[in-house]
Amino acid sequence: MLAKRMNDIGGSPTSALIAKVAELRGAGENIISLNVGEPDFGTPAVAKIAGIKAICDNFTKYTPSPGILELRREISKKLERDNKVIYGMEEICATVGAKQAIYNSLMALVDEGDEVLIPIPCWVSYTDMVRLAGGTPVFVSVCEDYALDLDAIEAAITRNTKAIIICTPNNPSGAVYSRDSLERLADLACKHDFYVIADEIYEKLIYDKDCEHVSIASLGDSIRDRTVTVNGMSKAFAMTGWRIGYAASTRTIIKAMKAIQSQTTSATNAIAQKAAIDALRYGDQDVHLMVCEFKRRRDYVVKRIEELEGFTCRLPQGAFYALVDVSNVIGKQTANKTIQNSFDLASYLLDEAKVALVPGESFNIKEKVRISYSNSIENIDKAFNRIEIAISKLR
Ligand SMILES: Cc1ncc(COP(=O)(O)O)c(C=O)c1O
Repeated sequence: MLAKRMNDIGGSPTSALIAKVAELRGAGENIISLNVGEPDFGTPAVAKIAGIKAICDNFTKYTPSPGILELRREISKKLERDNKVIYGMEEICATVGAKQAIYNSLMALVDEGDEVLIPIPCWVSYTDMVRLAGGTPVFVSVCEDYALDLDAIEAAITRNTKAIIICTPNNPSGAVYSRDSLERLADLACKHDFYVIADEIYEKLIYDKDCEHVSIASLGDSIRDRTVTVNGMSKAFAMTGWRIGYAASTRTIIKAMKAIQSQTTSATNAIAQKAAIDALRYGDQDVHLMVCEFKRRRDYVVKRIEELEGFTCRLPQGAFYALVDVSNVIGKQTANKTIQNSFDLASYLLDEAKVALVPGESFNIKEKVRISYSNSIENIDKAFNRIEIAISKLR
């Protein structure tokens, strides 16, 4: 009955986990969520007020497919100011979240049989989006510290390589790719003639002074012309539900993406576009406060992980996740079963400690779990106390 393309496509595992947590809470369980992929902060007041004003002004109709000019102008200014790349109005398309920007990029670039390189661990949706576009995902391991492994990338390039999807700062590892590694990737992309889809949605969430976000498109005209820069309002401005993302690239690629968008979602939400304009103009102080709080939590989470028997992690430099190595716990026994993988461990911690975290399998990596610190220090503290007790019961 269903189309053949659905044979390989599953729903997002992180969304499924969120649904399960909601169900358990509905049944009265006191679950602490360390699984969520969205900031637990409110949307900046400036954005909320702009949204309310848009409704009162009846700014509630269809907009042009790539978004209203005022928004694209603001995005263009932001990209020039923060990312050192100049994009004109015809080179920017606002989308229904960064997710649609990535999907539309793939639909615009990928033909049946094309290969798309994906460094792993990777965000849950890239793989199925590549498949939906008719392409073949080709997974490439990263280095032990989660930096890009340029040798592995070069070795994976074939005549069919059409693109690579990179995410920096990275979900789930928290790694921030160095300028040097991005320069080397840019050289490979130009030499072997493939595109880069650069997912920069966590750009603002970086915690150490010696760590900078570099947009690969800023590294020269040749790489700019083969990059789709993806970003959005969800993470930096705590606006996940407003659904505003954007893509910036060449006129040709953006024209194709606009065509796809005009035939599918028409455009993203008019009210949210107005809210995004004011968030981009006046929301920096809110972002700053959120980053300070995330840094405090990151340091606390890493300390607690290091104190836990059998758990280790590298210091995440960005995003709001810690990817924890749990290989020392795999093979241990609960009261009635063996923990065979990180999926089993996450299930055990959900049942026993009432703490939700995401198993590494969701990100194509084994023996790891992702802990999100998008929760209060009090809840994080409680969650780790519970995890400690649950882990001490393993034999
Ligand atoms: C790496 C990454 N890219 C893109 C997205 C999607 O963001 P948006 O809400 O803008 O669609 C997410 C959301 O979790 C993400 O983690």
